[in-house]
Amino acid sequence: MVKKNSAKCKWVYAFLLLLACSATAMVEDGSLVNGDFETPPSGGFPSDAGISDGPTAIPSWKTNGTVELVESGQKQGGMILIVPQGARAVRLGNDAEISQEIKVEKGSIYSITFSAARTCAQLESLNVSVPPASQNIDLQTLYSVQGWDSYAWAFQAAEEDVRAVFRNPGMEDDPTCGPIIDDIAIKKLFVPDKPKDNAVVNGDFEEGPWMFRNESLGILLPTNLDEETSSLPGWIVESNRAVRYIDSYHFSVPGGKRAIELLSGKEGIISQMVETKPNKPYRLTFSLGQAGDACKQPLAVMAFAGDQAQNIHYTPNSNSTFQTADVNFTAKADRTRVAFYSVYYNTRTDDMSSLCGPVVDDVRVEQSGSSRSVVGGLGLILIMGYLLLVY
Ligand SMILES: *[C@@H]1O[C@H](CO)[C@@H](O)[C@H](O)[C@H]1NC(C)=O
Ligand SMILES: *[C@@H]1O[C@H](CO)[C@@H](O)[C@H](O)[C@H]1NC(C)=O
Ligand SMILES: *[C@@H]1O[C@H](CO)[C@@H](O)[C@H](O)[C@H]1NC(C)=O
Ligand SMILES: *[C@@H]1O[C@H](CO)[C@@H](O)[C@H](O)[C@H]1NC(C)=O
Ligand SMILES: *[C@@H]1O[C@H](CO)[C@@H](O)[C@H](O)[C@H]1NC(C)=O
Repeated sequence: MVKKNSAKCKWVYAFLLLLACSATAMVEDGSLVNGDFETPPSGGFPSDAGISDGPTAIPSWKTNGTVELVESGQKQGGMILIVPQGARAVRLGNDAEISQEIKVEKGSIYSITFSAARTCAQLESLNVSVPPASQNIDLQTLYSVQGWDSYAWAFQAAEEDVRAVFRNPGMEDDPTCGPIIDDIAIKKLFVPDKPKDNAVVNGDFEEGPWMFRNESLGILLPTNLDEETSSLPGWIVESNRAVRYIDSYHFSVPGGKRAIELLSGKEGIISQMVETKPNKPYRLTFSLGQAGDACKQPLAVMAFAGDQAQNIHYTPNSNSTFQTADVNFTAKADRTRVAFYSVYYNTRTDDMSSLCGPVVDDVRVEQSGSSRSVVGGLGLILIMGYLLLVY
């Protein structure tokens, strides 16, 4: 009997340990707990309970200020509120915030993905932070006609236990104005190794922020001048407008599963400083294509490599959604800037308010002449072989 009991105790103990462990486990890539706000509060959703008295607690989130769960189809002032995905989302009132504690690896870089919509035509923005890091994301520009967009923001973890905070810094006269957010996810980023024969890091754009497999609008990458904490490792977005990170499930992507769609003309620039040897000739090559999103032609990019700038037009070819392009340059220093922006300000043919543009992928910078030395080497081997045969 005693034995049986102690065995039971062990099991209970193990179970409790398991619970304790799972409570302190590192955050996993993907949605935060109740990141889509679809988990019902203990008293049910406000709309199910009729008129709610007082604020509803949102499972797994802490709130401060007026934070409301909104429902898809819900109307306000004759306008239907936009819920990016599923049936629910949250709206942040003036100076209101929601936050969730997460356990991360100190020193690592993480990217947070979220969807956001405006409710009123006012200037709305969202302060996303994992203190001490923070960024204000401007929601004024709508990039898609659906009325919402997904964004990514990256931070370096200063501690193991951090809090991801979304705050509406606005102070509107109408307290029911304020951004709606949904689908909050996280991903731990890594910086891919630099390939031996290519000076560009993450030139194929395969490493980047979390993307839901079924979310079809791509992810906007807003301005980020800090190379160390970029949602797109290796690259920075150095313009005041965003570029779009796209996937092969919903867009045409030249290589692999991910690529960049440049939006907003000169206002959407991605760049990278690559290692070069001064006075050596180099060749920048990349894929230039269309995203398959009914973007109005013509599409063109301005490609920069050191002191060279070239305007390259995408030439539609019925067999392919992309072409390769190159720019030759001579390095002037041990670091050379490679950058791209869209020459035109394109919108979709089926709706004039959705921004789109040329796709860039598989960016490479190689020293020219390295292939020549291979040819030279081959030649030498052939000559030697010939000589051996002759003698
Ligand atoms: C809520 O926000 C207000 C204003 O920003 C702040 O003074 C207060 O300390 C916050 N309360 C909690 C519990 O965080
Ligand atoms: C975002 O909010 C935090 C906390 O309220 C504040 O410290 C930070 O300065 C804000 N960030 C920006 C970019 O305004
Ligand atoms: C997307 O997928 C997630 C989980 O994989 C699911 O919870 C969500 O409802 C899906 N969203 C849509 C719009 O289908
Ligand atoms: C498209 O592919 C077909 C068959 O592979 C080829 O005959 C044709 O020349 C290609 N067209 C273009 C524009 O490259
Ligand atoms: C760059 O140089 C290569 C030869 O090294 C040449 O084939 C290519 O056409 C050049 N590209 C441009 C855009 O001039």
